[in-house]
Amino acid sequence: MSNSAKLSTGGKDLEYPVLSGTVGPEVIDIRKLYGQTGQFTFDPGFTSTASCESAITYIDGDEGVLLHRGYPIGQLAEHSSFMETSYLLLNGELPSTSELADFTRTISRHTMLHEQLATFYRGFRRDAHPMAIMCGVVGALSAFYHDSTDISDPLHRKISSHRLIAKMPTIAAMAYKYSVGQPFMYPDNSLSYTGNFLRMTFGVPAEKYEVIPAVEKAMDRIFILHADHEQNASTSTVRLAGSSGANPFACIAAGIACLWGPAHGGANEAALNMLKEIGTPDKIPHYIARAKDKNDPFRLMGFGHRVYKNYDPRATVMQSTVREVFDALKVNDPLFETALELEHIALNDPYFIDKKLFPNVDFYSGIILSAIGFPTTMFTVLFALARTVGWVAQWNEMISDPNQKIGRPRQLYTGSTERDYVPLDKR
Ligand code: CMC
Repeated sequence: MSNSAKLSTGGKDLEYPVLSGTVGPEVIDIRKLYGQTGQFTFDPGFTSTASCESAITYIDGDEGVLLHRGYPIGQLAEHSSFMETSYLLLNGELPSTSELADFTRTISRHTMLHEQLATFYRGFRRDAHPMAIMCGVVGALSAFYHDSTDISDPLHRKISSHRLIAKMPTIAAMAYKYSVGQPFMYPDNSLSYTGNFLRMTFGVPAEKYEVIPAVEKAMDRIFILHADHEQNASTSTVRLAGSSGANPFACIAAGIACLWGPAHGGANEAALNMLKEIGTPDKIPHYIARAKDKNDPFRLMGFGHRVYKNYDPRATVMQSTVREVFDALKVNDPLFETALELEHIALNDPYFIDKKLFPNVDFYSGIILSAIGFPTTMFTVLFALARTVGWVAQWNEMISDPNQKIGRPRQLYTGSTERDYVPLDKR
């Protein structure tokens, strides 16, 4: 074996192949380990485990690099559109002019929801968190679109993928409209993907809604920044759910549930709430001290990342987009100054330097989304909307992989050994 890893365990000397990707760390192929030794590897949180082979997204966390199909996120954010990036993620290559036009037209033809779904929404409490509604409605899509749930049929997979990407803005906007008691807005397919979403969210049937081009562009860019991120928790959830053969609507609903947590997509909501709690820059030292205190559960939300041990490249774009949106809307939010100062203080503090904690994508996104008019409860919904294309691309890649198996991790069992049942009166 030319490139291999040697392991001595249980009195055996074993050798495992070391596999190389096109770029990034090599992996030790331990698939035969259990069969040969009866031992498992132990890696809670998967910090040293590659769960699959993928050609979609590459991250170099030490260098702060994020590539989609090889293209740097900064270039896509500057030059591409969310539709084009979606095509790229799904198909592997940038589209030609006609391919992009076809794809955009196909997606726009799927933006409407089955009318019966409006009744489904009305079953939720008005004060329901929109992420709760998203989990429910996206899961329910399989009950409405079961003509595209045969995962062994490539055409079904394609149609359900397009449906998910196209309907997510409608579903998200309806979750918002329901919470504020305004009528649902039907899609307007003469608008762009993002312009249509803004209109369905902020427009009302009584008035004409004018999309502000700078806001549309900023929102589109935010969608690009969230489109995919390799094997993160929600994407791994989608893959794991899909590995059993579950239909894509159910798998994406599982991804949405995972994304909701504050350590993942919920961090954008938590980050803005934290900035509001800090309020003015003079309070920052108190919160920095709390973040460093091991006995205090407080963490700087929007800071730190499992993979990035350098500035998150998405946060760089996000920070520069804040000013663009402020200028377009002629607003200013003092919390932006607080955020900049917090970043400055944290990045000069040995605790954050030593632990390589930098602002992540969520640190500035809340300030932009709040300026556009979204309530904090919608922030994670927007993340889910944008990430749907990534989830769908990863799900399709997994289903097409001939090595695909049901995901079934094992465990280090630390519970009781076998013992006899004791009747209630003897306990
Ligand atoms: N504030 C203060 N200390 C922190 C923070 C933080 N935000 N993040 C990590 N640490 C410390 C942590 O206490 C630990 O210290 P020690 O080694 O002394 O125990 C060390 O840094 C390593 O942290 P970890 O929790 O072991 O790292 P992880 O890779 O398991 O967690 C994370 C990554 C993103 C969950 C974590 O950094 C965090 O909770 N950040 C705040 C939440 C957040 O912003 N999440 C959004 C992530 S980006 C969007 C997305 O992809 O969903």
